[in-house]
Amino acid sequence: MIHASDMFGGLRGHDEVVVTGGAGFLGRHLVTALSRLGKKVTVVDHAELPEDIAALPGVRYARADLRDYGETLLALQGADVVFHLAGNASGTVSVEKPRHDFHLNALGTCNVGNACLELGAQRLVYVSSAVVYGTPQRTPMGEDHPTQPFLPYGASKLSGELVLRSLHQSAGLPVVIGRSFVIYGPGEDPARAGGEVSQFLRWHLNELPIPVVGDIDRKTRDFIHVDDMCRALVTLADRGQDGETYNLGSGTEVSMRELAEAVGEATGRPALLDADDSSLEDSFSLVADVSRLAALGFSPAIDLAAGLSSLAAALGPFPELPTAKAVFRRERPERRCLTGAAAC
Ligand SMILES: NC(=O)c1ccc[n+]([C@@H]2O[C@H](COP(=O)([O-])OP(=O)(O)OC[C@H]3O[C@@H](n4cnc5c(N)ncnc54)[C@H](O)[C@@H]3O)[C@@H](O)[C@H]2O)c1
Repeated sequence: MIHASDMFGGLRGHDEVVVTGGAGFLGRHLVTALSRLGKKVTVVDHAELPEDIAALPGVRYARADLRDYGETLLALQGADVVFHLAGNASGTVSVEKPRHDFHLNALGTCNVGNACLELGAQRLVYVSSAVVYGTPQRTPMGEDHPTQPFLPYGASKLSGELVLRSLHQSAGLPVVIGRSFVIYGPGEDPARAGGEVSQFLRWHLNELPIPVVGDIDRKTRDFIHVDDMCRALVTLADRGQDGETYNLGSGTEVSMRELAEAVGEATGRPALLDADDSSLEDSFSLVADVSRLAALGFSPAIDLAAGLSSLAAALGPFPELPTAKAVFRRERPERRCLTGAAAC
């Protein structure tokens, strides 16, 4: 649990805060943390807000679809600080529905940036993704690593970054961009979330082998606990430099084999891996160089062992099994005629 005293500057001088995507996994944790800081928090989301979040002190809900500029403008009125989290967070969804993904992530972000300019917000923090880097060329990756996304999700998140940076340069939008590595913690939706930490735990707590696609030693990731991520986002709002990009991760490299071992240690029972190395598409090291974030005074407080133990306790025995799949490629459809088309 995050306490107000953990939150550095704690957004001093900024009372009205908007969290877009506040009904989602990361958003619910951030809204809870901001409510504890005594902020007036408006959750902007097109999904229903869970009752426990809606009941928190200082929290109100403004239903809006950020693809609609009029709705965006209304929902963001009066905000001092805007945390923009809303969007599609699934690479698989982006492969299957790239236009949908682009509308949510790119158009939605353009609307939020423009509304912040028009309404005079003092700070916008945009949660982007490490997926914008594409296949890593080095480990760890600094913010100057080339951006060559191979998933539509990476392209749409990068488009969001580019449009906000261009609004910073052309019109002075006070935006800070955070590129998040893999977030884990309680509250992930097992049907949508592809994060390995909660997926591994869910299989293991059901006393089943853990299915993993790829090379269990070459596939490494950087996991950051959701409470640390909330602290990092507040740090960006307080101390981040306008127009700058920051990696948001733990800076610790963990292979799939090491993660399984840590799951076994956290639960007191060795974990069994069921590795499928027929696809090595994402068998690479994806680890953040976090020195730029560290220079703001931030360091993660929850290591993987502690995070796994508390998540295992939160999930309890026999939690719902993950159903989210990882899709990197879509079948090319047969050539087809559309109704009304002159000829094929
Ligand atoms: N979870 C991770 O590991 C991770 C890693 C890197 C980046 N991120 C980024 O963090 C952010 C939050 O991720 P999450 O895991 O909480 O995702 P999530 O899917 O749980 O939450 C996203 C929220 O955005 C809302 N939303 C989507 N489109 C909207 C629209 N057009 N208008 C209004 N609301 C809309 C959804 O209803 C949902 O509540 C996303 O931008 C994601 O790209 C997440």
